[in-house]
Amino acid sequence: MTIEAFATCPKQLELLLKEEILILGGLEVKEALAGVHFQMNAADLPRLIMWSRLANRIMVKLGGFQCRHKKDLYDAVSGIQWRSLCRQIPDTLSLRFSGTNPSLNNSHFSSQVMKDAVVDQLFTFYEQRPKVVKNDGHLSIYGHLRHNQLSLYQDITGHSLHQRGYRSENTLAPLKENLAAAILIRAGWPEKARQHYHLIDPMCGSGTLLLEGWGMATDLAPNKNYKSHALFSWQHFNVNHWHQLLDESEQRHQQALQTYRGQIIGVDHHKKSIEMAQENSQQLSAGDRISFHYQTLDKFKIPPRNNLIVANPPYGVRLQKNYLSSWRQLAHWLANNVRQAQAAILTPDESLAWLLGYKEQASYLFYNGRIPVQLRLMDIDKSNRLTVPDKQHFALP
Ligand SMILES: C[S@@+](CC[C@H](N)C(=O)[O-])C[C@H]1O[C@@H](n2cnc3c(N)ncnc32)[C@H](O)[C@@H]1O
Repeated sequence: MTIEAFATCPKQLELLLKEEILILGGLEVKEALAGVHFQMNAADLPRLIMWSRLANRIMVKLGGFQCRHKKDLYDAVSGIQWRSLCRQIPDTLSLRFSGTNPSLNNSHFSSQVMKDAVVDQLFTFYEQRPKVVKNDGHLSIYGHLRHNQLSLYQDITGHSLHQRGYRSENTLAPLKENLAAAILIRAGWPEKARQHYHLIDPMCGSGTLLLEGWGMATDLAPNKNYKSHALFSWQHFNVNHWHQLLDESEQRHQQALQTYRGQIIGVDHHKKSIEMAQENSQQLSAGDRISFHYQTLDKFKIPPRNNLIVANPPYGVRLQKNYLSSWRQLAHWLANNVRQAQAAILTPDESLAWLLGYKEQASYLFYNGRIPVQLRLMDIDKSNRLTVPDKQHFALP
């Protein structure tokens, strides 16, 4: 049975997510703002959920309706056979609603109308009401209203897939896991890992970039530990099939573990962050294949060649008042301790990128939360250094 669905993602990841969904068997795959429309066989959706490194949520489209007023909304929601969407009577219900029109101008109110319609229908049938919960109900519903057109979806992921489950505690400013995955894809890490490159993060924090990089290098299913009421109670979910997918993913991982020979190394001068990174890597059973070091950059030596350096240095006074000194130390380390490497550095503006002292080969826009940032790719070798006039005493731009 072919299902029409929408996968949500952070802005600027749409094209990468489109490619990922195509590889995982999607049809009619079309980018939209912060998401991708696609069709897929119902039986293949759990595989997409287990293997997507980039999606936030997967939502199955239930229908589109003209909707101007409260009654249109109530009638449209009542027209869906909610009880047939779950394998058993849903114990819990979660709802989200976005969008307005002149009459339905409060999305909280629209969500209440949607809830009343679903609960009334389920009560008529089962004589019991599901408990309304904030997230990941056994039945999770999303309504979106735009230009008087209502789209209704069943959210079969329940919560965002970027929460892989390996990160127990947050450090200062961790990257979301799917943003880290997108950064690594743009930096060419999947191909470089096949060539046994080393992955190095000199300001690794809780290690998100390296742990995602480890997952890619060792073909680890990003969402193998994913647990969700919404998915497990979805009408097309099959427990045996999920276990088969888990077995298959374990085989793939074991095989890739034998193959990948690179090293994954992280450094940070914040002790607590390194402790967290170590804990997180234990969750992935990475053993000693990833090493995290609490040390200053000046003493950090990396392998002589085949290095991809990735970094998300600090910026913005909220995170670190003297963040400029971190960028200077990074520039000094690249110039003095790195003989040959490719680097992918997340930079908030041109002047900090310029401070690093290398010409960039490509750059990509991402959003870290709401903050626009550029990923800049550069070759770290002497021939690629920016030339600065001898007597220049000011910073550009
Ligand atoms: C934005 S955070 C990195 C977050 C990381 N990507 C994550 O997902 O957890 C920047 C990190 O750079 C580290 N840092 C700043 N200056 C440093 C330096 N000179 N040497 C080593 N680490 C540094 C900070 O301690 C902080 O953990």
